[in-house]
Amino acid sequence: MGFVESNISKKQIDKILNSNYGISGEIIRLDGEIDFNYKITDKKNHSYLLKISRPKFNPDYIDYQLKILEHLSKQNEIKTSTVLTTFNHEKSIVVKDKLGKDRSIILYNWIDGRLWSKVNPKTKKLREDLGSQSSLITRSLLKFNHSFSKRKIDWDIANSLWVEEYIPMFKNEEKEIAEEFIKSFKERLDDFNKLKKSIIHNDINDNNIIVSNNLKNPKVESIIDFGDSVFSQTINDLAITCAYAIMNLDDPLTACLDVVRGFNKNLKINDSEIKLLYNLIGIRLIISVTKSLINRKKEPENKYLLISEKSAWSLLKKWRNINPEFAYYSFRKACSLDAIESKIQFENWAKKNKFSFKDLFPKEKKSKVFKIDLSIGSKWIGGREEIEDLKFFEFKINRLQEENPKCLIAGGYLEPRPIYSSSSYDKIGNQGTESRTIHLGVDFWLQAGTQVSSIFDGEVFTAVNDAGDKEYGGLIIIKHKTKDFSFFTLYGHNTARSVLKNKVGSKVKKGDIIAEVASFPENGNWASHLHFQVILSMLDYKNDFPGVCYHDQLDLWKDLCPDPNLLFKCSDLDQIKIKSDNELINFRKKHLGKSLKLHYDTPLHIVRGEGVYLIDQNGKKYLDTINNVAHVGHEEGEIVNAGKNQMSILNTNSRYLHSSINELTNELLSTLPKKLNVVHFVNSGSEANEIAVRMMKAHTNSNNIIVSQHGYHGNTNICVDISSYKFDGKGGKGAPKNTHVISIPSKFNLSYKKNRNVDFHIKELEECIHKIKSQNKKLGGFIIEPIISCGGQVELPKGYLKKAYKIIRENGGICISDEVQVGCGRVGKKFWGFQLHDVIPDIITIGKPLGNGHPIGAVVCTSEIAESFANGMEFFNTFGGNPVSCSIANQVLRKVKKNKLQKNSFEVGNYLKNELKKLSRKYKIIKDVRGEGLFLGIEFLDGEMNPLENETKYIVNRLKDYGILSSYDGPNNNVIKIKPPIIFSKSHCDYFVKYLDKILKEDYLFI
Ligand SMILES: Cc1ncc(COP(=O)(O)O)c(C=O)c1O
Repeated sequence: MGFVESNISKKQIDKILNSNYGISGEIIRLDGEIDFNYKITDKKNHSYLLKISRPKFNPDYIDYQLKILEHLSKQNEIKTSTVLTTFNHEKSIVVKDKLGKDRSIILYNWIDGRLWSKVNPKTKKLREDLGSQSSLITRSLLKFNHSFSKRKIDWDIANSLWVEEYIPMFKNEEKEIAEEFIKSFKERLDDFNKLKKSIIHNDINDNNIIVSNNLKNPKVESIIDFGDSVFSQTINDLAITCAYAIMNLDDPLTACLDVVRGFNKNLKINDSEIKLLYNLIGIRLIISVTKSLINRKKEPENKYLLISEKSAWSLLKKWRNINPEFAYYSFRKACSLDAIESKIQFENWAKKNKFSFKDLFPKEKKSKVFKIDLSIGSKWIGGREEIEDLKFFEFKINRLQEENPKCLIAGGYLEPRPIYSSSSYDKIGNQGTESRTIHLGVDFWLQAGTQVSSIFDGEVFTAVNDAGDKEYGGLIIIKHKTKDFSFFTLYGHNTARSVLKNKVGSKVKKGDIIAEVASFPENGNWASHLHFQVILSMLDYKNDFPGVCYHDQLDLWKDLCPDPNLLFKCSDLDQIKIKSDNELINFRKKHLGKSLKLHYDTPLHIVRGEGVYLIDQNGKKYLDTINNVAHVGHEEGEIVNAGKNQMSILNTNSRYLHSSINELTNELLSTLPKKLNVVHFVNSGSEANEIAVRMMKAHTNSNNIIVSQHGYHGNTNICVDISSYKFDGKGGKGAPKNTHVISIPSKFNLSYKKNRNVDFHIKELEECIHKIKSQNKKLGGFIIEPIISCGGQVELPKGYLKKAYKIIRENGGICISDEVQVGCGRVGKKFWGFQLHDVIPDIITIGKPLGNGHPIGAVVCTSEIAESFANGMEFFNTFGGNPVSCSIANQVLRKVKKNKLQKNSFEVGNYLKNELKKLSRKYKIIKDVRGEGLFLGIEFLDGEMNPLENETKYIVNRLKDYGILSSYDGPNNNVIKIKPPIIFSKSHCDYFVKYLDKILKEDYLFI
């Protein structure tokens, strides 16, 4: 980069250091705006920071900075730079530069760590720590005085109006933004001038913050460089910290709250300060961009000066779009205050005044409430199709009313709901996509035409028909004034005619009819109901107001929109307390199997599945890239209905004639080669493999089976005995005597372990058979997956299986293909995994995808094997092949066919593989991308081909932070497995790749 000449050579620096401090070592020039900075590292690897001032320095200024450090070190609240003294006990010395000008020299100890600007990712926790550490500086400086602090500097927010002169040089939007922030700063100047003042750091920017080198749990180590310290409004330190800490983020306000929360922990911020914070952040950014503008002209080659210009403008553009009042309420909440002061006033007022439902619906006689559950996990509301079938929903509501004639059907305050599914309810936050799900009012489900009256005296604030986006239909908002405060009540989903009779500004009395409930479609959505909401601030809304909010803003919104039931005090409407995740975890720990595992350090509480998403109890959607069981999508409507419908008329065992088992058999066989033509239905993949091994024994009279290293085939006795993943893994006792393990035939191995190829693996197989025979044993068979899943999505080398099957058969064994993971169209090119290898097994076993989540498995074999198995002993399976399971599985296979999902798997899988391969060219740790269709694996290795287990786990956890579920596996836990529902689309791939790409840049993965 283009450094400005310091006019002191490295040789001179070396001499100065040696003669004054007895130090010599490597000298590296660093960035710096005012001073010239150098990192010095001596032979013992001790590092120092050398600061050389510009010429014409002020000795008072040097003294000022030294005194600040001395003070902070005495206060001992935060690690700060310490100053080294010379042989003559001086903290600073003066030397002459090449041009004979005086320069001041100070040598500091070096604080180890990374500059904030270089840290990635900057997490919520780290931002909170930054707030907390910067407040320690600000707090410590409250007790510090120095005459030099009263100087005037450009970077002081209190002195910011100098920028006005430059505003005409900005253009278009940028000019407007600068004008706006300055204007509102000037309007608040009186209030600003009254704020508490103290000496502040005044420059907690991203190059003055040192973060620890701990990459997993980083902390703010120190804040350096007091060169800009000045006597100013104390709150400015927080404004400045925020201004830099929230750059380059999708949602700067949420990030800002983290800093504010952290700051307020050590140094309480008062309401007058909070009121101005939004504007002060804007002003500091305006100073920054104005400085950049000037400096660009003055020192075009000094890039350090311009570094934050682009980010500052981009932040200013986002910042301007945030409602300042909303930011103020958010800051109050982050400071553990009620978001709005009138919250308590409203609560007290509501306590003193009694309201009944008759005040809302004058003709309604019902005084009790039936609380309806429309939450994410509500079984009453049903799946997506039921939710969107508005006629059916209305029918259900009417039926509920008939069943509860004396009750008002109502509910919904702070309920997370699955019904707001359109993307207009979504935003891209700092953690990926977030959905607005939390309902802020109470819904009363009533006959269309029900009259609605104003709950209290007031004035019409809004009377609109928001037919445009059909959110509320006819909407009325009434403004009420009490002695001490005002509030609003919102009445939504009325007829347009009834609402438009009201005139904005006209007075209404308590009990005046203001609207009539409308039916669908006039009401904007659903069956006829009134959405009733209390609002304490309209922000800058006029003709609309949010009726739902994001879960991460719930605490704020529940203050702005208090519970309407505070008015009615009806216990039936009270919110139901749900069990916390911790309670669920503790119960599991006590009463469920000790070897049951939960995903993730902080487990997820999932209550709904929908297509490619799993949704938690708050409505957070997670893109599911793990679940190959939900083959055609979570809770797919037709599949669910097939099960429901059959369940409601018959479910019994397969000893009776029933068409569903025949139809399913037919569906299955139509996908298979003719040779595989007899089906046995079971309940799981394990059971399928269990039967397959029993068939092998019956057919060959031998239980000697060859299996692959790292293979997994199920959890029963026999299955564990043939699963190297288990018997060679934790808690395993090695291979049983009749199980013979061959090394994993891996395509990827071929590329980096030069001694392995198809012949190597075939030779190993032959040797294995030879060994079995040499022990006077007979070969029973060979079981393997076409792509080995638990082994880490390992593709078999081309031509391997064909040769292997031939040898097995030549030696009297049979071949079993475990299709539990890969079957039913997932691998794209073919319907079954074995077809990728151009072979026909003697038995295939099927599980996971067949029931799309319902437990059903199947074993398909040749008629010869079926004959051998039918040796007189009846095969009875209580649940296997029951009509419900068969109806579901039938629907799954039909769906794959009808919706061409095998083709989708092929195309989308190829697209994703390609995108991942592009990433592998960008990031060295991705050593292999493999698999077929939507059954892919990404392997992470270092430069020496060592597996990167911790890094893989890190990525999986970080993906979860962005709302993406993924899993890792393989003998070294260094392979991310991708096996989503096969309705996965290219846009889902893009989302996955976007965040994987982002995560791969993070410091933890820099190896
Ligand atoms: C390849 C393979 N076979 C068999 C099974 C066992 O299936 P289930 O868990 O349905 O018993 C699994 C389960 O993960 C599997 O991955």
